[in-house]
Amino acid sequence: PAAPVRLRPARRIGTANPRLFGSFVEHLGRGVYGGLYAPGDPSATPEGFRGDVLELVRELGVTVVRYPGGNFVSGYDWRDGVGPRDARPRRLDLAWKTVEPNTFGTDEFVAWCRHAGVEPMLALNLGLGDARSALGLLEYANHPGGTTLSDARVANGSPEPHDVRLWCLGNEADGPWQLGHSSAAAYAERAAVTAAAMRRFDPALELVVVGSSHERMPTFGTWEREVLTRTIDLVDHLSCHIYFYDEGDRARFLRSSDMLDRFLDDVAATIAHVRAATRSERDVSISLDEWNVWNYTSYDEIEPRRVFEEAPRILEEQYTLADAVVVGTLLQSILRHADVVAIAAMAQLVNVIGPIRAEPGRPAWRQTTFHPFAAVARSAGHTVLDTAADATGGADATCVVTVSPGGDHALVHLANRSTTTAADIALDLRELAPRSVEHAELLWAPDPAATNTVDDPDAVVPRPLDTRLDDGTLALRLPPVSWATVRVR
Ligand code: AHR
Repeated sequence: PAAPVRLRPARRIGTANPRLFGSFVEHLGRGVYGGLYAPGDPSATPEGFRGDVLELVRELGVTVVRYPGGNFVSGYDWRDGVGPRDARPRRLDLAWKTVEPNTFGTDEFVAWCRHAGVEPMLALNLGLGDARSALGLLEYANHPGGTTLSDARVANGSPEPHDVRLWCLGNEADGPWQLGHSSAAAYAERAAVTAAAMRRFDPALELVVVGSSHERMPTFGTWEREVLTRTIDLVDHLSCHIYFYDEGDRARFLRSSDMLDRFLDDVAATIAHVRAATRSERDVSISLDEWNVWNYTSYDEIEPRRVFEEAPRILEEQYTLADAVVVGTLLQSILRHADVVAIAAMAQLVNVIGPIRAEPGRPAWRQTTFHPFAAVARSAGHTVLDTAADATGGADATCVVTVSPGGDHALVHLANRSTTTAADIALDLRELAPRSVEHAELLWAPDPAATNTVDDPDAVVPRPLDTRLDDGTLALRLPPVSWATVRVR
């Protein structure tokens, strides 16, 4: 074994906003139909929501869910998804080349959120849609009653306003694949006009303006500067998206969180630059509202599609142990940016690149990536401490410590990103004066490519981890490609 990795909490970063543990549900493949909504499933609630999925969503610790897209929203007319089900139109969805039955829409989504105990975050169509349609949805959802649109909501079974606070001003408008893709200037104008009108309805809404779809976008940096220069005094958050996958170099893939660190630093710096240049006094934070491991080649399933089907099996990635370790380290990176990131949403939630899978008639199950997310989501509301490594000892260990609001316990989230070398960790927690280890778990399998399946959903699950706590120093061993969470009191 290599020399021990000496770590110590080095810097108080900020408080982990519970909204960092968000997720995302899009009308895409079997995300909604067969995922959230499956009337007739043995676990279905009277509303037709899959009950086992709801249970896993609660266990996962998700706090906020963005909906209904994604690329889908840029062609979506929200009016198609409300009112009596048998009168709702069937439409082509040109984003994912499917047929949209519209049997699940805004009212069902908000009702589902109440069941799941999560906050809804609604995305508006600023692709092929316009400000008038966006304002119509706002009035439908949030106005108490006495107008045609708000009374329609009441008649449709929701007497109380949905009171949605978080609104996304479109999706990935910088991407040529997006319906209604436009220049930064044209998008900024649409977003500004929409935001200004929305604020006349309710100045306290939280509005998210579209940033870059990826750090590799040719317009990354300039898009943010142009869009934010026009909108900074009208919005609260700047969106950014990023996905990672193994391009054939596992060691590099396992260091994906370095790239996310840099991406978030760059977006934060761009916000600071625009604030300085415009003399704005507004604090705009980052909404990382799509992030995950996603093998983009699954996009190739979409382009050749000529047959438009309902809820096809697309983007149903099977996640490995290595993917789960990357997801854990991406969450560490998000925590390390708790001072500049206010919202983060893992994309997506069920079936479609999600931590939860649901097959018809079978119990819903947890992918490998479910486990680090559930562990780190327990840090919601905690104070985040970054850690410094005195020596890496040939391993590649990363660690973030979070301390509960009353200081009665701390969570230590650790990863070993090395593909070859075990890490003997000595974590100096003396400043926190810990008395005992309450719980320690390790996510590991001999094969980094190991996955869970519907027939063997517990192949890769957290198992008890041996630790020692001597004079405030926590000692443990992490095998190559592993993830651990330790709770100390
Ligand atoms: O999450 C899948 C897709 O990724 C979303 O629809 C889009 O916003 C992004 O490109």
